[in-house]
Amino acid sequence: MSSGVIVELHRNATNWGKVVDDIVKLERKIFPKHESLARSFDEELRKNNSGLLYVDVDGEVVGYIMYSWPSSLCASVTKLAVKENCRRQGHGEELLKAAIKKCRTRNVHRISLHVDPLRTPAVILYKKFGFQVDNLIEGYYSSDRNAYRMYLDFDAN
Ligand SMILES: CC(C)(COP(=O)(O)OP(=O)(O)OC[C@H]1O[C@@H](n2cnc3c(N)ncnc32)[C@H](O)[C@@H]1OP(=O)(O)O)[C@@H](O)C(=O)NCCC(=O)NCCS
Repeated sequence: MSSGVIVELHRNATNWGKVVDDIVKLERKIFPKHESLARSFDEELRKNNSGLLYVDVDGEVVGYIMYSWPSSLCASVTKLAVKENCRRQGHGEELLKAAIKKCRTRNVHRISLHVDPLRTPAVILYKKFGFQVDNLIEGYYSSDRNAYRMYLDFDAN
């Protein structure tokens, strides 16, 4: 049902500034301060081992996923969000599928992530892709906001 196009944001992209601005705006709307990367997005994205995919619908950014591969063994999904009025149209699933594919091309054995257990749609989506809950980390986001650590393992070969 998703009718958007998934685009990888490259460092030398001519629309870098516009895309980052759009994402920062969405980030501010969707996440509370303690979960938001709004202030550090540009910096995070310029790190060597990180990537960002976004969904473009008629020139508008309606969703994004950020991931990184801190080691050759493990990658992590650091952020996933879809604009509120564009949800339940398959964009989240398409983004996650594309990010997993990107991580797999680096031959990592595991993808991990943190998610607030209260973010039910996200937890259901991650489970749909086979992510399992590893641990509950109390106070991860703030004194009263916890996180599940979730992981998805791949065969060694
Ligand atoms: C989580 C999120 C990215 C999902 O995006 P989306 O585009 O609405 O997701 P999709 O339409 O691709 O849904 C894919 C699957 O996710 C699950 N899902 C998504 N929204 C759901 C909801 N409200 N209730 C139950 N399951 C849901 C379902 O399994 C769904 O598959 P189905 O349609 O076959 O049932 C979106 O809800 C969001 O941005 N939430 C706020 C930010 C957030 O919590 N991010 C994750 C933490 S970083």
